[in-house]
Amino acid sequence: MSLERACALSELEQDTAKRVEVGGKPIAVVLDAEGVVHAIGDTCTHGDISLSDGFVEGETLECWAHGSAFSLRTGKPLNLPAYEPVPVYVVEISGDDVLIDPDATVAV
Ligand code: FES
Repeated sequence: MSLERACALSELEQDTAKRVEVGGKPIAVVLDAEGVVHAIGDTCTHGDISLSDGFVEGETLECWAHGSAFSLRTGKPLNLPAYEPVPVYVVEISGDDVLIDPDATVAV
């Protein structure tokens, strides 16, 4: 397990996704309304679209291109056209640092 600093917690806006790269992987980081930080793969599985350009709705991140909403907890799309999940990464908070392990996905 190798946690790397992705960004500062203080720079995250609630219910807004931030695109980061950790270990060469594009990752969307989201601070939800309950104060929980999520990290999921940033590339929509339906097309080469950055999910962090989309919209946070509750516990989902919706792709702006065709509307598939990916669960921030499981990475699974809740509606078509995407049907493959994106990875969900392990996140830890240390002080003001958001740490992500790009090699460790959460089993769902
Ligand atoms: S590119 Fe994301 S739903 Fe089509």
